[in-house]
Amino acid sequence: MNRPLPTPIAIDGPAASGKSTLGMELAERFGYAFLDTGLMYRAVTLAAVRAGIPAEDKAARRFVRTLDMRVEATTTTRIFLGNEDVTGRLRDPEVEANVSLYSALPSIRDAMVRKQRDIAAEGFAVLAGRDIGTVVLPDAPLKFYLEASEESRAERRSRQASGEWGQAQRDADARKDIALRDSIDSTRKVAPLRPAADAIIIDTTRLTLDQVLDLALEKVACASD
Ligand code: DC
Repeated sequence: MNRPLPTPIAIDGPAASGKSTLGMELAERFGYAFLDTGLMYRAVTLAAVRAGIPAEDKAARRFVRTLDMRVEATTTTRIFLGNEDVTGRLRDPEVEANVSLYSALPSIRDAMVRKQRDIAAEGFAVLAGRDIGTVVLPDAPLKFYLEASEESRAERRSRQASGEWGQAQRDADARKDIALRDSIDSTRKVAPLRPAADAIIIDTTRLTLDQVLDLALEKVACASD
């Protein structure tokens, strides 16, 4: 007899490893909600920077209690602060520069993890982040951990970016940014980036999106055979 589709599905991995792309593809195929938890940390960061809250746990604890943040997870993720849809602002420079600092604060992580668990409990869901398989949903029946070399992740990031600088400058900037983010995300005290013991590890360095998707689909099929 066939088992039901696995839910929730956890996808973790470092910056630009392809988590969101895979998550959205799976969500679309199976009609799951897709929650990009990185966007939640980005939205809190935007709100905190706007309100002039220092990246310090005590101030952040008071701040998150009053934070009016709404998360809409369909096949993509949209985030609202009050009535404002801030999804398009979440890659702004002031967010990029500060998100690793605010997302390392326990008070912010506690509040976000609670919201993430609530959303995962609402129905079929795929969540992407850094600590989904280890902390947020340790009992998830299917966990992926995507890896890719720093060089290939920087290349992907810089191809997505455009701007007044040339390609060589964009490549160098992307590599520096990715190396810094990896180091902060994987060495922080609370919920550092690491694969769960039961995660399926996929190295995407030399794989196309279709190949990654095929591998993931095989695993979903195995989990529901
Ligand atoms: O995936 P991203 O680049 O949008 O994530 C933005 C930041 O949020 C990144 O520095 C790590 C942090 N983050 C986290 O700490 N935990 C998560 N579950 C998701 C993201």
